Amino acid sequence: MKKMSEDSNSAILDSISSVTEGCRLPVLMNNGDDWRKSGCSTLAEIISIKDSDSKKQFYVHYIDYNKRLDEWVEEDRLDTRKIQYPRRDLASAATTGLNTPKKTLTGATNSRPSSPGLTPDPITGPSVLAALQQKQQKNRKRKLDHSESKSPPAQEEEVRRPSIGSSIGSSIGGLGDIEIPPLLTQQQSLPRQTGSLATHSDDHAITRIKNMKMIELGKYRIKPWYFSPYPQEITNLDCIYICEFCLKYRKSRKCLERHLQKCPFKHPPGNEIYRKGSVSFFELDGRKNKLYAQNLCLLAKLFLDHKTLYYDTDPFLFYVMTEYDARGYHIVGYFSKEKESSEDYNVACILTLPPYQRKGYGKLLIEFSYELSKFEGKTGSPEKPLSDLGLLSYRSYWKQTILEILIALKPQEGQEKPQLTINEICEQTSIKKEDVISTLTNLELINYYRGQYILTLNKDLVDSHKKIMEKRKIRIDSKYLHWTPKDWAKRGKW
Ligand code: ACO
Ligand code: ZN
Repeated sequence: MKKMSEDSNSAILDSISSVTEGCRLPVLMNNGDDWRKSGCSTLAEIISIKDSDSKKQFYVHYIDYNKRLDEWVEEDRLDTRKIQYPRRDLASAATTGLNTPKKTLTGATNSRPSSPGLTPDPITGPSVLAALQQKQQKNRKRKLDHSESKSPPAQEEEVRRPSIGSSIGSSIGGLGDIEIPPLLTQQQSLPRQTGSLATHSDDHAITRIKNMKMIELGKYRIKPWYFSPYPQEITNLDCIYICEFCLKYRKSRKCLERHLQKCPFKHPPGNEIYRKGSVSFFELDGRKNKLYAQNLCLLAKLFLDHKTLYYDTDPFLFYVMTEYDARGYHIVGYFSKEKESSEDYNVACILTLPPYQRKGYGKLLIEFSYELSKFEGKTGSPEKPLSDLGLLSYRSYWKQTILEILIALKPQEGQEKPQLTINEICEQTSIKKEDVISTLTNLELINYYRGQYILTLNKDLVDSHKKIMEKRKIRIDSKYLHWTPKDWAKRGKW
């Protein structure tokens, strides 16, 4: 926040016509006080300008703030006295909002755009869509052909997984009225096949602007955070109505009510592989339950900014977490996971729906993803880059999980102090080695003493950890997981 000096308002408003896309200037944030009184504003970039009801509106991105705070503002919130125009050599980038520096939290880039779902990219007709899908499949195949772990394809064998609840299998796709994913009209190009997910979603100004005002899902009304490629004709509506069980969307409450009368579902498709108390997890296959998977990705994209969403959900499994009550199994969150990951990712995208956030469900989803990795006998890591909230949640999970092990450790017979290798921490937790090392380093636990590395836990850390763990009430209990991992490499096809 920056302090502004007092000046006349009329001078500010006079220069409003000079505000163009790509320029930067102080803007009063939605949650801020009136800057005319408090003098507080935040540097923002103008992403887009529109005329509505003969009033100009400006879509602004606050520099150094997450994009979920981006918003349409009217001219009285702009302070044109300190306007910065885009440099001439950046002019073309400026109109697409690319002026804004992008922070990557982990610094890691991806070898491919792998997050499942729907692409906000440019498709101009069904044939292009088919070509795109084919291209993605080819690319995926090429990638896997290069993977060392590739085994010769075998006949598809059906691995029977125990299921607690009923299995709807692929029946959800047969519900009829399939919504065709939207076709963007803006001039666009085909998506990149490799490269950072973060950069990719920035390519088009249109995907930088939130396009949905509100969604209603079950008993919640939720304000979207980011762009999601829902059909253009419904993006103008004040609210869209989503069936919380099959995730189909409707343009009015009346239409949704009609849908609910026919909708046979009270839970996500797939197999219920975990149930403890009111919490369940359903595993579904992005190939067998394509429509549900695509609708889930469309919904998730409203709250996930840094992932590129693709039409091709076939290579992914989806783990949907629900809370049960007398009305059914209500979706709380989910994560997706590649059937085969050459980078040892055990999560592609992870989401807790906003009404359920900050209650420990995110950590529960993460704990579940590592529980699956333990059953597979592997270590895993989330796909990079992580979002700001993703990084916070993972760091907190890694810290608590590793401290839990270290604190419980007892010295073996004849030893003065307990001993444990980093590999043993990885084996016990399924957390990938670099994440274990970064956690221990961030906690500043590693010391070098008399020629060896030692971990020192001070009393304050142990006490605060114990207090935090007492509050972490909901946990995954592996006794309730009924699941056998499949070896997708041996199956020949997904
Ligand atoms: N501000 C500050 N800290 C936060 C916030 C927030 N808004 N949200 C979560 N945290 C912290 C919590 O304090 C907690 O840490 P603590 O226990 O040490 O205090 C930790 O993150 C996890 O909190 P949970 O309540 O277990 O997590 P939640 O249910 O809120 O879900 C999640 C976390 C999944 C990241 C959620 O914020 C979300 O869905 N965000 C939008 C989508 C997203 O960014 N997903 C991750 C992308 S990365 C990837 O997909 C691999
Ligand atoms: Zn439905």
